[in-house]
Amino acid sequence: MSQDKLAIFDTTLRDGEQSPGCSMFLEEKIELANQLGELGVDVIEAGFPIASEGDFRSVQAIAAECRSKRIAALGRTLEPDIIRAAEALKPAASTRIHTFIATSDIHLEYKLKKTRSEVLGMARSGVKLASGLADEVEFSAEDATRTDIDYLCEVLSAVVDAGATIINIPDTVGYCLPNEFGELISTIRERVVGESDNVTISVHCHNDLGLAVANSLAAIEAGARQVECTINGIGERAGNAALEEVIMAMTVRSDKIPVSHNIDPTKLYPTSQLLSSIISFGVQPNKAIVGRNAFAHEAGIHQHGVLSNPLCYEIMTPESVGVPHNDIVLGKHSGRHALIARYEKLGKVFSHEELDDVYKRFTQLADKKKNIYDQDLLSLLASQNPVAIAA
Ligand code: KIV
Ligand code: ZN
Repeated sequence: MSQDKLAIFDTTLRDGEQSPGCSMFLEEKIELANQLGELGVDVIEAGFPIASEGDFRSVQAIAAECRSKRIAALGRTLEPDIIRAAEALKPAASTRIHTFIATSDIHLEYKLKKTRSEVLGMARSGVKLASGLADEVEFSAEDATRTDIDYLCEVLSAVVDAGATIINIPDTVGYCLPNEFGELISTIRERVVGESDNVTISVHCHNDLGLAVANSLAAIEAGARQVECTINGIGERAGNAALEEVIMAMTVRSDKIPVSHNIDPTKLYPTSQLLSSIISFGVQPNKAIVGRNAFAHEAGIHQHGVLSNPLCYEIMTPESVGVPHNDIVLGKHSGRHALIARYEKLGKVFSHEELDDVYKRFTQLADKKKNIYDQDLLSLLASQNPVAIAA
């Protein structure tokens, strides 16, 4: 992968699916995997085959279906996990085994009950085994951001020697701040990757402090060339970095982040909608990029600005992310310009005096009713004290 191109590793079907309310049936997973293919992700992490029979079958089915994509399967650095991942990946045209072990002292002491040197050995042998069973191997140092830096670099160097070509730095508990994470990536780049073209630094950020996207962007600026993310930011606890936000930040601010990618942004909204229709919840209305209100303007001043020139308040168009049209929401904060524009869409044009009267009745209605729809506007015209309307 060239140094100015970012690979998008989608883990909606693995880290996303393992979170509450996000379970998917096999057919749904296949449909979503096909959509992720259309969207242009580089790698689809299809599941964790040793975790359950269902996960194994999903990885196998997606591997058979999405032949034009690289399919990844997750496994701990244990032999049975890696063998199972390799078996599930067999139908794929292009395979990656993603193997992981925790490296922070807190995980070593309380979860793994292993010493640093034991974990180093497990990381090395897991990667060695996986290298013979897949086209490429990715290694993740779970809880990397709370790991002693010297030890982290030692483990990463060992797995690179053992055959890993993608080294993933997860902020597993969403603890890091963007400048800190950027510095961590720079250090790993200097101390582990050096001049090698063969090793890609990847990042995997969780959103516990709401910083997953900011941390991913800081990492890209520091040289990471794979980002792991999910549609709508679903994932463990507060979720993972939202794919649509990473991509649009890079697209809108390509002046600051001159790194290309293979994603088709016009597929972002349809993909988000598809996921929402499959899992048990949608996105919050004010969610960046794909929320219902992401391109809606209610305040009068904003509406006037957007109607005069969308660039006044829109840094990207709804169409650029696949939202069908700019939906101005009419409410008590709306001004005359928005009202005229909406009536014009309904084929109604007013004189100045007529408008005063209609606007007055509109504001009275808006004080009583939260959402005003086209049918309410048309009823307003028919209500008492009618004005002469030119249809
Ligand atoms: O959050 C995490 O550390 C993970 C790893 C398995 C990559 O999901
Ligand atoms: Zn994760």
